[in-house]
Amino acid sequence: MKLFINEKVKKGTISPEIYGQFSEHLGRGIYEGLYVGENSDIPNENGMRKDVVEALKEIKVPVLRWPGGCFADEYHWMDGIGPKETRKKMVNTHWGGVTEDNSFGTHEFFELVRQLGCKTYINGNVGSGTVQEMSEWVEYMTFGGLSPMSELRKKNGHEEPWTVDYFGVGNENWGCGGNMRPEYYADLYRRFQTYVRVYDPEHPIKKICGGANVDDYDWTKKVLGTCYDHCAPAFHGLMDGLSLHYYVHPEGWEIKGPSTEFDHEVWYKTMSKALYMDELVTKHGKIMDTFDPEKQIGMVVDEWGGWYTAEPGTNPGFLYQQNTVRDALIAGITLNIFNQHCDRVKMACIAQMINVLQAMILTDGDKMIKTPTYHVFHQYRYHQGAELVDAHIADDGIIGPDEWQVPEVTESVSIDKDGIITVTLANLSADDAQDVDISFVEKKDFEVQEATVVTGEIHAHNTFEAPDEVTEEKFTGFKKTDDGLKATLPAASVTMLRIK
Ligand code: AHR
Repeated sequence: MKLFINEKVKKGTISPEIYGQFSEHLGRGIYEGLYVGENSDIPNENGMRKDVVEALKEIKVPVLRWPGGCFADEYHWMDGIGPKETRKKMVNTHWGGVTEDNSFGTHEFFELVRQLGCKTYINGNVGSGTVQEMSEWVEYMTFGGLSPMSELRKKNGHEEPWTVDYFGVGNENWGCGGNMRPEYYADLYRRFQTYVRVYDPEHPIKKICGGANVDDYDWTKKVLGTCYDHCAPAFHGLMDGLSLHYYVHPEGWEIKGPSTEFDHEVWYKTMSKALYMDELVTKHGKIMDTFDPEKQIGMVVDEWGGWYTAEPGTNPGFLYQQNTVRDALIAGITLNIFNQHCDRVKMACIAQMINVLQAMILTDGDKMIKTPTYHVFHQYRYHQGAELVDAHIADDGIIGPDEWQVPEVTESVSIDKDGIITVTLANLSADDAQDVDISFVEKKDFEVQEATVVTGEIHAHNTFEAPDEVTEEKFTGFKKTDDGLKATLPAASVTMLRIK
């Protein structure tokens, strides 16, 4: 097959936030995964695990969404500030019914993002909270002058206000966030967002409206139908993003299916379901275009990834799952889709960063491993902030069983400010390598500066005993041709080439 790259045609900037992460108070995502407390034997800085933070810095996390998820609509932020010994304990009803001691709260979140060097995405509580509570949280976090909330923040040890880059007004308000109808939620959005005040005009908070579940196009139509007038240019600033949630459940929502045991049919089913993201982004995007042809409102896919049956022997409410080469492919396919839709998709947060669903990192006590998904995020970090380049594949074959046919290869190509082209290719075939002839419209004289691949037998995964079964390896399977390059992509692989 052929990959034609027209490096002269740039199609828009790939927002770094497409490579965002999500961490919820769920299972061992925050507690143990990120935060162990200052008195832990696990090496930490102000309570944050040093090994995990170091590893995350290598993938250049651009933004972190917190505290949920479903948890966000039950979270009362005041329970998570002040002396830890007096913080209120609560039941985490959504996730395993365990006691949440609130030892990780607002101050700890901002300490974590300081260490990661990333932007902040706070998700507010609409489902069980009040306008006053939300408005005071924003004041607590971002107001630098004299006010009751800024004084409280100072009393709790933080003199200066923090920066909130994004604020989500509720989460999944069609479901765990209050089981609302779109018209009702949209009215609440209009009301709640009014009180998400921007105290620092140099750092305006971008407001994210709660969007649809999967293919609920009616939600997108009705929410925008109710809100958009208020977001038209004269009112611009009331809605900067509209979210979308979509998870890949190989065997459907009820069964899901195990993380490491699946046959070829389920492999292709999973690939096909990952590719479905393209249809969702396209169709929701078309509805957004009817209201917002200038694309001022970003699509924010702030929950995505593979969701399987929890590992046997673990609390099913903790959503802990292994991560195989199949997950590397879900990541490669999905990130290629987001890059290609960078005119509309402005942020995406994979669910979830540590120990939950399609994680970057798994921990066990003081041990940690990087997952195949982590390695794909490391490969793709070069796309952050680069310009999408016009590219298309010709002669792509179709593979897989009848019901779950998929293209052999998907791609995305970008060029950075130094003129270096990043090509990322996902080979969806479980068994066969694929030859790809890569050519440029003009570039003839070039060199491959770096090339890596994440691959393995389709079930391969990393364990605490064998942490490097699947890793990012040097890729040598290419050679120069008269027209460009011929690359041989291993079966079930994600490949990255940096070309100057
Ligand atoms: O990521 C796990 C859960 O999935 C989130 O809490 C919720 O928003 C979604 O249903």
